[in-house]
Amino acid sequence: MNIQKMTIFGGRSKSGLPEPVQRLDLNMGDVVSIVGSTGAGKTTLINDIELFADANTPTGRRLLINGEKPPAEYRDNPACNPIALITQHTTFLSDLPVGEFLTIHANIRSKDKSQIEDLVTRTLAFANQLTGEPVQPLIRMTELSGGQTRALLIADATIICNTPIVLLDEVENAGINRNRAIELLRQYRKIFIFVTHDPRIALLSDYRIVVKDGSISDVFHTDEIERKCGERVSVLDDALTNLRNQLRRGERLSQAELESITCA
Ligand SMILES: Nc1ncnc2c1ncn2[C@@H]1O[C@H](COP(=O)(O)OP(=O)(O)OP(=O)(O)O)[C@@H](O)[C@H]1O
Ligand SMILES: [Mg+2]
Repeated sequence: MNIQKMTIFGGRSKSGLPEPVQRLDLNMGDVVSIVGSTGAGKTTLINDIELFADANTPTGRRLLINGEKPPAEYRDNPACNPIALITQHTTFLSDLPVGEFLTIHANIRSKDKSQIEDLVTRTLAFANQLTGEPVQPLIRMTELSGGQTRALLIADATIICNTPIVLLDEVENAGINRNRAIELLRQYRKIFIFVTHDPRIALLSDYRIVVKDGSISDVFHTDEIERKCGERVSVLDDALTNLRNQLRRGERLSQAELESITCA
């Protein structure tokens, strides 16, 4: 499965008007954000991608892979599907221990059985670079925190599923290390698409897709000024996270904390 490019052809907005951006090409290796207000149509856009929309969804969008209509097996055969989607609502039906769950998944996805143990180890190591609280192989899936769940799903999609396209619907609420996540993901050549309300993720992306009234209204490449804003946002955000953790631990704040927020 050698995917180089995905093309989205615009459909219509919620109000029935033609989508302002009528064509968008996403290339292998792109890290992309989708931004927009609540209810603007962000999840709908990633659902269109996941469904390989062919003018058969409410938006009327169409999707091409490498300039052609995606083969039916992408949709019909889960093993051939090049897209992994991490949804907004993640609850596990399985209460298997994490290690066992990953081993079963790796056995389903991988043809080379000698690789299974290595895949599971790498997936756990990846997840544990994103969370403060490490995920242990013996902990049950249902006992994971929100952050651990997200981290594990991102690692699983990237390493075990190893699909060329990964869609993540609002990853931020779960306390994972976002800078580290994007840095790690960039080491894998895939198309990563984040639906996000988080300026840090939006500004770390190569470009962002702006969704309004159910349509793509703009596509903005992150320029130099925005990249610098992103660095400042990260410092501010880290300062806020530290403050939050100190208050949670029942500590008092001092002059150092005051400076960390005034200088940020
Ligand atoms: N182009 C469109 N045509 C018709 N309906 C649309 C279109 N785009 C989105 N919708 C509808 O608008 C509603 C909100 O869309 P969606 O859930 O995608 O928003 P969202 O941006 O993901 O919101 P949130 O930030 O709350 O997750 C849904 O019911 C969806 O079906
Ligand atoms: Mg949504």
